[in-house]
Amino acid sequence: MSMECFVFFGVLTFLLTTNRADVFTDALDCLLGESCVLPCSFQPGAEVIVHWIQLADSPAHSYYHDQDQLGHQNPRFRDRTSLFKNQISGGNASLLLSGVKVEDEGRYKCYTSTVDHNKETFIHLNVYAPVLKVDIQQAENKITCSSEGIYPEPQLTWSIDPPPNETITVHQTEQKLYNISSSLNVKVTDVEYNCTVSTGRNKMAATLFKQTSLSGSRKETTMRCTSSKSPPTGLIWRFNHSQIIVSDGSVMKEWMQQVKSVSPSGNLTLKDLSTDHDGIYTCELRTAEGTYVTNTFLRIEHSQGNVSNLIYIVIIPIAIAVAVGMLVYCKKKKGCSSKEPGESGEPEELTGMNKNEGEQ
Ligand SMILES: *[C@@H]1O[C@H](CO)[C@@H](O)[C@H](O)[C@H]1NC(C)=O
Ligand SMILES: *[C@@H]1O[C@H](CO)[C@@H](O)[C@H](O)[C@H]1NC(C)=O
Ligand SMILES: *[C@@H]1O[C@H](CO)[C@@H](O)[C@H](O)[C@H]1NC(C)=O
Repeated sequence: MSMECFVFFGVLTFLLTTNRADVFTDALDCLLGESCVLPCSFQPGAEVIVHWIQLADSPAHSYYHDQDQLGHQNPRFRDRTSLFKNQISGGNASLLLSGVKVEDEGRYKCYTSTVDHNKETFIHLNVYAPVLKVDIQQAENKITCSSEGIYPEPQLTWSIDPPPNETITVHQTEQKLYNISSSLNVKVTDVEYNCTVSTGRNKMAATLFKQTSLSGSRKETTMRCTSSKSPPTGLIWRFNHSQIIVSDGSVMKEWMQQVKSVSPSGNLTLKDLSTDHDGIYTCELRTAEGTYVTNTFLRIEHSQGNVSNLIYIVIIPIAIAVAVGMLVYCKKKKGCSSKEPGESGEPEELTGMNKNEGEQ
């Protein structure tokens, strides 16, 4: 009877402590690649022992006899763990974990003991890698939205009407991070496409505005970059989907002659253009909320070109001819009147004419 009782209470105590451990498990969110402090405190005393264990069974860090004891440490934690040594005597057994990896995710036990007490604290570490950037691009009749290096598994949604029948591809890298992408087959490109990639922690959007056409002047042409309310954090201008013209304020060498200026809102002004510069210009602007992509089909105006050709080929030669003609005429006239004044100029002609008139 007393034996039964003992077993019963033993099991009850076991269940209670197990449940209590679950109830008191705090959650801690740690950013991938950064350092994170797993908190643990105890009542100070002599002969401190600290064991940090990633459950079920990976020793992360141990401390006793007044020093770190890393003989049994799981190699995954090598050189990435430390305690706050000068604060252990005050009851601080927190673990500093650096270079957080996805594998570090899980439940940890902090076991502490002194001559007087011992204690177990549990903490659940969640790793996260937020959505940092979403790309959207168009190639032929396909629009692709993608994002990389996210944890935990993200979602991707298109917000267009009618809803597309898209396919979403999720791929997990060796580092256990998620890459996500989705492509739409499109016939018309005169609507706006918007996609959002989200994790529990954050979300970012990418918008592809409908393409516009512009006939530009050879001398100077400004193309707009659709601006948003938030200030841009990044800006790239591309030509024909491949060549970079301007990237975050620096102009590529091949485009030095053409780039006149980039406005604070992202508008690009080009100069000294020729028909070689016909093509698609893409502005990719980033803000804290997302990516905004604007395509402009630029055609350098031929009429403008004809006018300037006309100037060079027809008008200028005529003007020169007229000027030369006038000069020659003027010289001749002046020469006649200045070299032989009175004798053989107009008067003679006039008299001749008068003679003829008189004879008739
Ligand atoms: C232990 O000390 C570190 C470093 O000062 C501090 O960041 C942490 O919050 C402390 N933890 C506890 C449980 O007091
Ligand atoms: C950018 O260009 C657009 C269209 O050309 C214009 O409406 C807008 O005012 C321009 N913004 C700036 C800052 O130049
Ligand atoms: C850029 O694209 C346009 C239209 O697709 C094409 O006509 C032009 O030849 C391309 N220009 C260059 C330099 O590739």
